[in-house]
Amino acid sequence: MEQAVAARHRAYAPYSNFTVGCAIMLENGIVVTGNNQENAAYPSGLCAERVAIFAAGAQYPGVAIKEMALTASPKDDTLKIPVPPCGACRQAIAEYENNQQQPIVIHFMGASGTVAKASSLKDLLPLIFDQSYL
Ligand code: THU
Repeated sequence: MEQAVAARHRAYAPYSNFTVGCAIMLENGIVVTGNNQENAAYPSGLCAERVAIFAAGAQYPGVAIKEMALTASPKDDTLKIPVPPCGACRQAIAEYENNQQQPIVIHFMGASGTVAKASSLKDLLPLIFDQSYL
């Protein structure tokens, strides 16, 4: 979570002023971080979770993800309640959890305060659409 907080402070969020940081712990001990990257063409931006998990997949393909830590708040750090990942990020995380056949533990908080924990992405997104339907 410390690395997620540091990543949040590097976020590029000039339009929403809502900053998000994500740190991913791989089974080899390496931590990959990401943060939200916004764009003047708003839909072209990307959430912190997907920046981080795609970076992990790009740099360490086939290396299992053990845990993810998320922190999110307006830039003024006022949000003190846990912020769960958005639906699109849950779908993206599900692909990795399914492929590695072991759960990804997800810890999430606001700028500080209570840290909520999901023991698996499946706890946040039941009835997942995955490649088995294709
Ligand atoms: N955002 C994330 O980075 N992760 C989420 O799970 C929810 C939203 C970002 C996207 C946008 O840059 C800002 O937060 C406001 O929606």
